[in-house]
Amino acid sequence: MHDDSEPLTSQELAGIDPTGGLDDLLIFGNPATRRRFLKQVAGTSAAISLGPSLMGFGSAEAAENAADTAVTPAKVTLKINGKEHALEIDPRTTLLDALREHLQLTGSKKGCDHGQCGACTVLMNGRRINSCLSLAIVHEGDEITTIEGLANGDQLHPVQAAFLEHDGFQCGYCTPGQICSAVACIAEGHAKSDAEIREWMSGNLCRCGAYPNIVAAVKEAGTKS
Ligand code: FES
Ligand code: FES
Repeated sequence: MHDDSEPLTSQELAGIDPTGGLDDLLIFGNPATRRRFLKQVAGTSAAISLGPSLMGFGSAEAAENAADTAVTPAKVTLKINGKEHALEIDPRTTLLDALREHLQLTGSKKGCDHGQCGACTVLMNGRRINSCLSLAIVHEGDEITTIEGLANGDQLHPVQAAFLEHDGFQCGYCTPGQICSAVACIAEGHAKSDAEIREWMSGNLCRCGAYPNIVAAVKEAGTKS
């Protein structure tokens, strides 16, 4: 963890915490990083160009306070993988950030944080959703299932087993989202052919290009379900 007074590195400005590796890929979703970013911007080029009044705050301290104290925390109870968790969070917190930063369920990944890659896919009442696009507070009463909740003890979910059997991954970053999406895809009845699987899994991107093996894994798991 960095000191608040340290300037952000170029890696951090690009959204990558060099101490956290891929598992901590965050784009100002991390409060400490956001605080440091605001301090840095308030003291440098953007502030000089815009001036404090146009930036909406008069100093770095005001920027920090505006970022962290303007919103009243909201209470919400989330049911994740069959277990209830009472949280008090910023109401703007996404479901993905609630999972990763408040509940330490880091299986769901943050890729784009804009609903475009599917790395954050979880199941909500059996339906797949992009957790980066959904506020946590709207999920009171919902059954949320993450990759951590699919296995039955030591027994892998059939889709997890099929991904292993077919080498449906390389770096593995997209895999939790792919597997959650595949579970729903099969349940929806959209895994009967390669073309259908490609179409209905198209919201889950894989930068490693493991698509042929992913399709094979989903198809096999679909035939066993
Ligand atoms: Fe949610 Fe990319 S991180 S869709
Ligand atoms: Fe690397 Fe899909 S396995 S992004």
